[in-house]
Amino acid sequence: MKTPICDFVKRYSDSNCTRLHMPGHKGSGVLGIEHLDITEIAGADSLYEASGIIAESEMNASTLFGCKTYYSTEGSSQCIRAMLYLVMLRAKKENVRPLILATRNAHKTFHSALALLDLDVEWIYGDEKSYLTCDLSASSLAEHLDSMESMPVALYVTSPDYLGNILDIRAISEVCRERGVLLLVDNAHGAYLRFLPRSLHPIDLGADMCCDSAHKTLPVLTGGAYLHLGNMVADELAPFVKDAMLLFGSTSPSYLILQSLDAANDYLERYDSILAKYLPLVEDLKRRLSSLGWCLCGSEPLKITLAPKSYGYTGVTLAAMLEEKGIVCEFSDPDFIVFMLTPELGADGLAKLESTLTSIEKREAINTRPPEFSEKRRAISIREALTSAFEISDVEKCLGRVAAVSNVACPPAVPIIISGEVIDENAIECFNYYGIKTIKVI
Ligand SMILES: Cc1ncc(COP(=O)(O)O)c(C=O)c1O
Repeated sequence: MKTPICDFVKRYSDSNCTRLHMPGHKGSGVLGIEHLDITEIAGADSLYEASGIIAESEMNASTLFGCKTYYSTEGSSQCIRAMLYLVMLRAKKENVRPLILATRNAHKTFHSALALLDLDVEWIYGDEKSYLTCDLSASSLAEHLDSMESMPVALYVTSPDYLGNILDIRAISEVCRERGVLLLVDNAHGAYLRFLPRSLHPIDLGADMCCDSAHKTLPVLTGGAYLHLGNMVADELAPFVKDAMLLFGSTSPSYLILQSLDAANDYLERYDSILAKYLPLVEDLKRRLSSLGWCLCGSEPLKITLAPKSYGYTGVTLAAMLEEKGIVCEFSDPDFIVFMLTPELGADGLAKLESTLTSIEKREAINTRPPEFSEKRRAISIREALTSAFEISDVEKCLGRVAAVSNVACPPAVPIIISGEVIDENAIECFNYYGIKTIKVI
């Protein structure tokens, strides 16, 4: 596949032009990494008014994903805000209340998008009673929707979630379609799902819009992401996508990130066969770890999530032990440790993980469990909470107070208490369990 952005920038860099334009490094080599970093000079196109090499490259990505695909240089975060803006525009056109129904384990970017756009949300809590996952089934969704006074304009779900759980997007999309509700999927962790032997990408399973953090699971620089439109809404929403992305993006999108998205297209043309060779290695490793006694969770093909307490270790302790042996995980908490794998890790990376986990002695199981997460009460809107003056309070002193700006760290950036909610005893129990010492309160 052609790589028009990379080709243009390389030609420009090789031409040794005197750069009387931004960026200030002038491609000089002071930093050692900047010669391919340019701005919107003649011929370089412009991300938010793309009609040249960027438009061509986005067309290539659209061909790969089989739908209208747009680049983000500011992660899925930018795409999530743009998706919600597009939903809001649509609701305004139809003169309906822009209420979004969402699974409770949404990334904090979703909350800031709701606040920026002044949208209402109703949360779905799963049966698992965990703040990190939400096991929404099609039947429970149908029940929930049918019990609402009026239909929401959209359902927003996170799949895969941080722990590698994947929802049945096909069945969920059918429930949504039957009721005229748009389905938006935070697929930040699942760009590669398109390239599985049988695609599990949300757009292929009926989602109307989704975001993929290309940088999380594909060989793309940090910040590179896609916004995809499903076929049912593509003609209607495509004319507004670039404005939606610009509304939440910098006017100086990174050409280094754009080049990485462009170069990835060429690589991704062969990715299905690369993945097809790698997946059996990962599946075999999962099987061997399981037979060694490690407890594996989640169904995402390229994540290994261990619940290591049954092996005698908390996730946090295990992460520290692995780090000493030169293995750095994606995420750990008291109950889980998450490893993100891609073919770029190679068989050697898998072998190192396996030999290290094999060398760890099995100990008596730890029997502590996280508090069961319970539903929270909203006092004021997320927008009101995020724009209110706040103070920092010790967790022990914040019972009954209203949460302000979320101070949840990334990863997993899924808050226990969402801005505007009342801090109850269960929240305090959760804060204590997860080692959170202070909270921003109004
Ligand atoms: C589930 C989920 N959604 C959205 C995001 C935001 O993605 P990005 O960092 O690409 O902006 C993240 C980031 O970690 C995430 O885990």
